[in-house]
Amino acid sequence: TLPTSPRHFLDIHNHSIDELREMLSRAAFMKRGQGAERPLLGKTLALIFEKPSTRTRVSFEVGMRQLGGEVICLTGKEIQLGHGETIGDTARVLSRYVDIIMLRTDHEAKLQEMAEAATVPVINGLTDSSHPVQIMADILTYEERKGPIKDAVFCWTGDANNVCESFIHAAVAFDFELRIACPPELSPSYQTMDWIKAKKGRVSVHRSVEEAAAGADALVTDTWVSMHNKDAHRRHNLLKPYQVNDRIMGLAKKDAIFMHCLPAHREEEVTSSVIDGPQSAVWDEAENRMHAQKGILTWCLNR
Ligand code: CP
Ligand code: NVA
Repeated sequence: TLPTSPRHFLDIHNHSIDELREMLSRAAFMKRGQGAERPLLGKTLALIFEKPSTRTRVSFEVGMRQLGGEVICLTGKEIQLGHGETIGDTARVLSRYVDIIMLRTDHEAKLQEMAEAATVPVINGLTDSSHPVQIMADILTYEERKGPIKDAVFCWTGDANNVCESFIHAAVAFDFELRIACPPELSPSYQTMDWIKAKKGRVSVHRSVEEAAAGADALVTDTWVSMHNKDAHRRHNLLKPYQVNDRIMGLAKKDAIFMHCLPAHREEEVTSSVIDGPQSAVWDEAENRMHAQKGILTWCLNR
């Protein structure tokens, strides 16, 4: 018999809606304090970071401990990842020691190489191209506050970056409307636009943030300069008109929420009045990283 392939979590669009819903119900269930005591007792998670992190690092580490498991945290520099030995060989070796791997890296191809060679599940902890664990936490947060996400109207404003890309995947999977307000230079790629069309996704691209924000249920933004960007000055100039402030919040529904994956740059992509205001959901969002990932970890390990 062929060995069954591990249950990776690499991107939202790799999964059926039933699988995604199962991960989220596990998360909500455990957040309520229900479920088995220590379902991942005796299991070890390796966290590998090739970029800095606060939330991903701490939420995976604490979440895994709460599940009864152990954690090893490594940075790309201190191990031989992709320099010294191939990523595939590192994956084969780590699979002999640990039960599950989370990787934060730059190029998506590195994550793919890790997943293809690993014989244990691999989780995407952010690449230059996507951030699926963040968006699972965002869906959990939205539904806690506002009910089912199906048919909701989300407005993403700013850079159509890695976090936006995972929102696009989620809009298709969970069947909500996503309006992206961004400058032409920082729009989703042609490849992504073709994918949306093929999936008949309700995703539209706007130049006017006012137009995209009108009547929205949620306003979402992210930093103007991601960790992999080298053109900070240009981005500041291009993205200034896409700031979330009280005027833009005022165009959305009265009970709309504000979301941001954090870290935030106050008075750049969002004003303090909005992020500290009554409509902000950002701290719940950060907390829910841990709950959502507990759902994902137990799903990957089928426990
Ligand atoms: N939102 C998020 O992934 O934050 P960190 O970069 O701090 O992990
Ligand atoms: N878009 C940001 C997200 C950080 C969590 C980055 O890639 O730096």
